[in-house]
Amino acid sequence: METILIVEDREGLAKMLSQTLRNEGYQILWAKDGAEGIKTISEEKIDLVVTDLKLPKKDGLQVLDAAKEGNAALPVILMTAYGSVDVAVKAVKAGAFDFITKPFEPDHLLLQIEKALEKQRLITENLVLKDTFSDQLAFPKIIGKSPGIVKTTEHVRKVAQGKTTVLLTGESGTGKELFARAVHMLSPRKDRSFVAINCAAIPHDLLESELFGHERGAFTGAVAKKIGKFELADRGTIFLDEIGEMHISLQSKLLRVLEENTLTRVGATAQVKIDVRVVAATNRSLLKLIEQKKFREDLYYRLNVFPVIIPALREREEDIPLMATHFLEYYAAEMKKDLKHLSKSALNLLCGHPWIGNVRELQNAIERAMILCDGKEIEPAHLGLRKRLKTESSIDHIPLEGSLHEVSEKASRLVETKMIIKVLRKTGGNKSRAAEILQVSYKTLLTKIKDYAIEKTRLV
Ligand SMILES: Nc1ncnc2c1ncn2[C@@H]1O[C@H](COP(=O)(O)OP(=O)(O)OP(=O)(O)O)[C@@H](O)[C@H]1O
Ligand SMILES: [Mg+2]
Repeated sequence: METILIVEDREGLAKMLSQTLRNEGYQILWAKDGAEGIKTISEEKIDLVVTDLKLPKKDGLQVLDAAKEGNAALPVILMTAYGSVDVAVKAVKAGAFDFITKPFEPDHLLLQIEKALEKQRLITENLVLKDTFSDQLAFPKIIGKSPGIVKTTEHVRKVAQGKTTVLLTGESGTGKELFARAVHMLSPRKDRSFVAINCAAIPHDLLESELFGHERGAFTGAVAKKIGKFELADRGTIFLDEIGEMHISLQSKLLRVLEENTLTRVGATAQVKIDVRVVAATNRSLLKLIEQKKFREDLYYRLNVFPVIIPALREREEDIPLMATHFLEYYAAEMKKDLKHLSKSALNLLCGHPWIGNVRELQNAIERAMILCDGKEIEPAHLGLRKRLKTESSIDHIPLEGSLHEVSEKASRLVETKMIIKVLRKTGGNKSRAAEILQVSYKTLLTKIKDYAIEKTRLV
């Protein structure tokens, strides 16, 4: 059971709120002034604080400071009177989860509390999501001077200002997530949440409740009410990654939410209004998926309001040395090692590499080189880019020798290997989901992964 501390000097309001929250199953502590609130925070195990702004002894901002000092992740919601919104906005900048203006409906506060606690749960349960929330504070550094990247960055900067839906397209590892974060960070919503969800990584029967939330008992296993990603992203940005993988039946529900700006949690009847900026990404051609009847055309037009195409790294060779230097500096700092330089031959190798995995592959090669290189200069051997890769990955290089059966077996092995790696990358290594997409049994997939020596290292 989660414990909520209410810091409020008006006994009537405190009692009413305590009762409402107790009915929802929370344990409540009450402090009648700021000083008592601060004392309680330091002595008790508290999951969330709701504090008034104007209080006897210490005020709400001081309560907020004390809470953040003890535990920076502790969510604090401020209650403010009409007219002190400026202070409340400052409080949000100083780390408050949100504020609520008096007078308010208890249900409204309840919703804020649920959102804050859900965010907290996600942070503790899932490190990937923690990344999502903490990283949003850092401005994403976009490296590149090629015309392609300069233009893309410029477009992102311009579109970020409003609420226009952005559709990012690019091969795996080109920086789709980076640009999605940039849209958020350059927008007036930057102080609100950026919530990312990978549609390929979540089994399709669970995706609806992940996106829109569910009521308690909505389906077997729904033991508690859950706030969905859309509600968590309210007034912020949602990043719908790998949108092409979303099941067609869910696509129509998503379309409705985007058109009406309201959603219905799974198992609920009431509608919830939302204000969310949508950024979607795909490394598949949605037009092809439309042809195959796997993607709704109307959803495509709803998402493709402002398309941004991120070029593959092999199409912007001039960015390779810049990015390599950027990653060298980054890893030198992270590994506390001296800065190293690329030898001429290493640089040549980088510039001619096919970069199937794009920037992510380059980043990994540099990380590996930083680990292996003891001297001052990075040589080709440190980068681990087997020359074979280029030939290995092309069907044209299969020697046309032996029987027809042997040749076609080699070709099919090559194509299957590529496809499996691609899908595993997309699902973040989730094999059961990958088997579902590839339409083979889980066992078949495991056998192929073993036979084709698809090691985990090749997935990242
Ligand atoms: N222009 C860039 N400048 C600096 N870093 C970049 C750039 N593009 C990509 N990166 C870095 O490369 C890595 C991969 O980028 P990101 O995760 O955004 O790619 P993605 O397109 O979302 O990949 P996937 O399709 O596999 O999910 C990240 O570490 C990102 O920070
Ligand atoms: Mg991505």
